[in-house]
Amino acid sequence: MSTQKIIVAIDGYSSCGKSTLAKELATKLKYSYIDSGAMYRAITLYFLRNHVDFSDHSKVLDAIANINISFVYNEQTQNSDIHLNDENVAPYIRDMIISEKVSEVAAIREVRSFAVAQQKRMGRKKGIVMDGRDIGTAVFPDAELKIFMTADPEVRVMRRFKEMYETNPHITIDEVRHNLELRDYIDSTREESPLHRADDAILLDNSGLTKEEQLKIVLNWVTEKITPTPKGATPQY
Ligand code: DC
Repeated sequence: MSTQKIIVAIDGYSSCGKSTLAKELATKLKYSYIDSGAMYRAITLYFLRNHVDFSDHSKVLDAIANINISFVYNEQTQNSDIHLNDENVAPYIRDMIISEKVSEVAAIREVRSFAVAQQKRMGRKKGIVMDGRDIGTAVFPDAELKIFMTADPEVRVMRRFKEMYETNPHITIDEVRHNLELRDYIDSTREESPLHRADDAILLDNSGLTKEEQLKIVLNWVTEKITPTPKGATPQY
């Protein structure tokens, strides 16, 4: 097994399957996985619960001072849950009410500085896979491997719809489509670290790929970035 640890930065549009890939990759490599979008969602949850007027920068700063976010490993699900001030908020952050506001909150400079500073600290020891919108451009501009994911918009809508339908059978495909289009628009046109492909990011269009196929492709990219494998030898992770 290679002992060289790298940082893998995965960015892309909403519902491209970034989290699925990032999680599987981290498990395979025995790296930590950080879902940076979950942090913006947890901050949004705090703002909504506490009626923070996020058009007011000083109120945003006051609120942020009271927010503590951590990722806590859950033995049962074998995943990390996001905790907001010691409460496991993983069950709430995917609700539509959060999805409707999160891009607006994530566009606020003070919110981004707070989240990005924590994300940078998490990557200090490397051995991390992080997914989001600005990981390869702002959080880890020196990441050894940067991937920019994309997929056909209708494929993304149906993926997100199936995911949301499990917890909310009243959701409609049009609602999901509208939310994805709006978030993509806000995420890629905002002033602060807008979503764009880093010059050195590899493009991965997974519209026609199975999870297994995409994982295999990315594991090969990881192999190329770490100690070169002698010709003919099978890479070990
Ligand atoms: O990946 P997601 O859909 O859970 O992300 C939620 C929102 O957070 C998304 O609309 C954009 C924002 N986000 C961001 O601005 N920067 C990141 N690194 C991750 C997410």
